[in-house]
Amino acid sequence: MQITINQAANYVDKEVKIGGWLSNKRSSGKIAFLQLRDGTGFMQGVVVKADVGEDIFQIAKSTSQETSLYVTGVIHEDTRSPFGYEMAVTGIEVISEAVDYPITPKEHGTEFLMDHRHLWLRSNRQHAIMKIRNEIIRATYEFFNQEGFLKIDPPILTGSAPEGTTELFHTKYFEEDAFLSQSGQLYMEAAAMAFGKVFSFGPTFRAEKSKTRRHLIEFWMIEPEMAFYKLEDSLKVQENYVAFLVAAVLKNCRLELDRLGRDVSHLEKMVAPFPRITYTEAIELLKKLGFDDIEWGDDFGAPHETAIADNFEKPVFITHYPKAIKPFYMPEDPNNSEVVLCADLIAPEGYGEIIGGSERIHELAILEARMKEFDLDLEAYSWYLDLARYGSVPHSGFGLGLERTVAWISGTEHVRETIPFPRLLNRLYP
Ligand code: 4AD
Ligand code: MG
Repeated sequence: MQITINQAANYVDKEVKIGGWLSNKRSSGKIAFLQLRDGTGFMQGVVVKADVGEDIFQIAKSTSQETSLYVTGVIHEDTRSPFGYEMAVTGIEVISEAVDYPITPKEHGTEFLMDHRHLWLRSNRQHAIMKIRNEIIRATYEFFNQEGFLKIDPPILTGSAPEGTTELFHTKYFEEDAFLSQSGQLYMEAAAMAFGKVFSFGPTFRAEKSKTRRHLIEFWMIEPEMAFYKLEDSLKVQENYVAFLVAAVLKNCRLELDRLGRDVSHLEKMVAPFPRITYTEAIELLKKLGFDDIEWGDDFGAPHETAIADNFEKPVFITHYPKAIKPFYMPEDPNNSEVVLCADLIAPEGYGEIIGGSERIHELAILEARMKEFDLDLEAYSWYLDLARYGSVPHSGFGLGLERTVAWISGTEHVRETIPFPRLLNRLYP
């Protein structure tokens, strides 16, 4: 009977066959311990020379790291391993030998590992992070479906730019100029006017020359957009959504969180509601904390966000930023025309901004005026202005960066490990 490692619990005391890879091994003259992995999990195979005979024991001893094999044996409970089961091996059949696998159990530098990302993905640390990423994606669909949102897929090749024109990847669209999408927001606004509550999940691109632990050139974003929602309504969706993601990972990825050494008690505190402070209060807080050179009107850098977040146990919303540092589509606060109706959600522990969102301007004259101030070509945005021409309503939306969220929940220092093949400044390989 051929099974996968994650099915082992159903086959205790039965003889089964598993197809997998040898991730590591230890052996002495009489016994060998094979660390096996098959993509669904990791399990130890124990090979006892006295039981299997000289030939099979020799195969166990000589098989090299990352060789693929079929292993036959009897599943036993094993209280010492975090997985809970091991295999008493009775047979080994080598499929394909791996000679001199470059990533050995010793320490390697980051650049070396990044150059071998296609192989590094096989490690149990990367396995745990990708499982958590997958759980966050799965829970995203569950949450928004249960809340009555329709999944809408905005285009990736576009002619418009919601977040400003300096960070766009240009490409040719036959004879026309095009960009890779930096956000699907404007299309999601069109979808909200058609379907009410919608969300997207897809890749976005920023030609941003940032080299930090939070920046990717290509990253994945979840972008919900809701007709008739005000800022506060949107913040409620955001905190419920983020709390739902954390709860799902806690429930379904315990082994992975343990393997990564994640402090689970930190995650258990992440229940809604989340605290809210205004940008102006955040500036006052920073001044109190000794950031003397920050002025009202400045955008926050990573050290500012971290210092603010350190004052709260949960993610914190910073609301009402100055108009001058936010995109054209954000409406002025009716009580203070210097600030806009927006919020960023800052994760704890220095993981930075995981959500950016706002209300959207829905009156045509105001929108056109703002777009002119931003020097946008109204002709190119004619379709977007149609939304305001033909029965727009107040609406709000936000974008959650998947990789920063995975980094925070999994406790991974740098976003480069939270996406299978990261695109970074100076890295397009592999
Ligand atoms: O704050 P941003 O730029 O907002 C938007 O794009 C809006 N149009 C979203 C919307 O309202 N529909 O990006 C949203 C989130 C950030 O909070 C961050 O989590 C992530 O996307 N993000 C990045 N993640 C990794 N690398 C980068 N270079 C990122 N830039 C933004
Ligand atoms: Mg932002």
